[in-house]
Amino acid sequence: MTTLHQEKILILDFGSQYTQLIARRVRELNVYSEIRPFNEPFDAIREFGPSGLILSGGPSSVLDEAAPLPDPGIFESGLPILGICYGMQVMTHLLDGKVAPAAHREYGAAEVTHDSESELFRGLEADLRVWMSHGDRIDSPPAGFVPIAESGNSPVAAMADEKRRFYALQFHPEVVHTPRGGEILKNFVYKICGCGPTWTMHSFVEQSIEKIRDQVGEGRVLCALSGGVDSSVAAVLIHKAIGDRLTCIYVDNGLMRLGESEKVVRTFRDEFHINLQAVDASARFLEKLTGVTDPEKKRKIIGNEFIRIFEEEAAKIGKVDFLAQGTLYPDVIESVSFKGPSATIKSHHNVGGLPARMKLKLVEPFRELFKDEVRLVGEELNLPPEIIYRQPFPGPGLGIRILGEINEVRLSILRKADAIVIEEIKGAGLYREIWQSFAVLLPIKTVGVMGDERTYDHVIAIRAVTSLDGMTADWVQLPYDLLARISSRIINEVKGVNRVTYDISSKPPGTIEWE
Ligand code: XMP
Repeated sequence: MTTLHQEKILILDFGSQYTQLIARRVRELNVYSEIRPFNEPFDAIREFGPSGLILSGGPSSVLDEAAPLPDPGIFESGLPILGICYGMQVMTHLLDGKVAPAAHREYGAAEVTHDSESELFRGLEADLRVWMSHGDRIDSPPAGFVPIAESGNSPVAAMADEKRRFYALQFHPEVVHTPRGGEILKNFVYKICGCGPTWTMHSFVEQSIEKIRDQVGEGRVLCALSGGVDSSVAAVLIHKAIGDRLTCIYVDNGLMRLGESEKVVRTFRDEFHINLQAVDASARFLEKLTGVTDPEKKRKIIGNEFIRIFEEEAAKIGKVDFLAQGTLYPDVIESVSFKGPSATIKSHHNVGGLPARMKLKLVEPFRELFKDEVRLVGEELNLPPEIIYRQPFPGPGLGIRILGEINEVRLSILRKADAIVIEEIKGAGLYREIWQSFAVLLPIKTVGVMGDERTYDHVIAIRAVTSLDGMTADWVQLPYDLLARISSRIINEVKGVNRVTYDISSKPPGTIEWE
């Protein structure tokens, strides 16, 4: 990947669960950073041209034969290096110090004292609260290094070779449990590597516009606009770069939420003046879904139909050369720590199959960004907050939140119930801190009593979860009065519902969506 960013930090990933966090912390200092696998050849590193290197933590022990080790060329490069936890042990091991198993595994909060004038701790008080998570420890630092901090358990909690600008920490400066960790990273990045805070969302937008113009030339770009954060921000950014040579296609599959399609059209066509083709394909989708109850079948039908309609609409536009996609950095990192279990639990529908089928080249302006950085770009581009901070919504839409058969009546019930959930969650000021909150329509009816009448009606389940990335999630302990309000509003306002339940399962073993 080529980048225009002047000063940057490269992070070599040894498999720590915190590696992404290191990248985030550096970026928060307005310095561009990227993660590469631990064994990235030194030639590739040189080509990338970082101002400094950070070696991440990791679950291995350098004492193991199969321990992951970097290209030793990095130590001859003259670049400043910061080793964190396992990264520290790698430095020690490769530079001929001594690593030994610690008598006690040190895990959790610890106090370290640093008594040095080291650049790394410049401006910090002598005693620091830090987060430790390691089995091995440093018995003797390599030649040229001196200990610069100690803890009760680790005589060498940090070490430095100021001459070569090599530094290492036994603890994790990137986590919130190391309150002054940000300062330590700042010292490394600004003072030791000499980077300046030049990477901002403003500069990102300017550079991206240049890049998009370069890449696209006089060509035309197509964008599948879903109304979600990534495709929305991408559309506005690309529109800024190439104007009317961008065409967005919005497919209303009939499985959208209350008022959603109208809002997309209003925002992008009327406010941003983007060339938007909105296709109402509800009838086609619903016809294909008639009688289908199997979740995987629903997903396949919805995914295939989407591709078919998108292709048909694209054909009407004439010759197109590029397809815009909101691919994010975590999707492209070739990294040892992010390869989760790969079993297909659910076949997620996205537009991944399109470019190959349509022989289109990709425009992916966010390949270098994390999700919250895309939100900042959205703010820079003045997108409305309801788009920038919208909770994720699955491609198959309400189709996988209606358990059992999908039809207009059931869709209408779920839409109304869902709108109440969202309205109440927003009213309680909880919308942004919750990852997803929504209603699900169950495939059963239950008995109730309304007035003096027996009812036999539908059941709505409420789901609200917190999550960092959708891979794991926990149910939210919503206040009882909020749950009470949601329940009574749904039962009173949505005809056909007489019972509301709250889903209190985490993921795993549950999943976020019910299908
Ligand atoms: P699960 O239900 O697997 O969902 O815990 C994890 C995240 O993925 C979203 N999701 C989907 N997104 N197409 C999508 O674009 C899909 O088929 C799909 N299924 C689930 C879900 O909303 C959650 O954010």
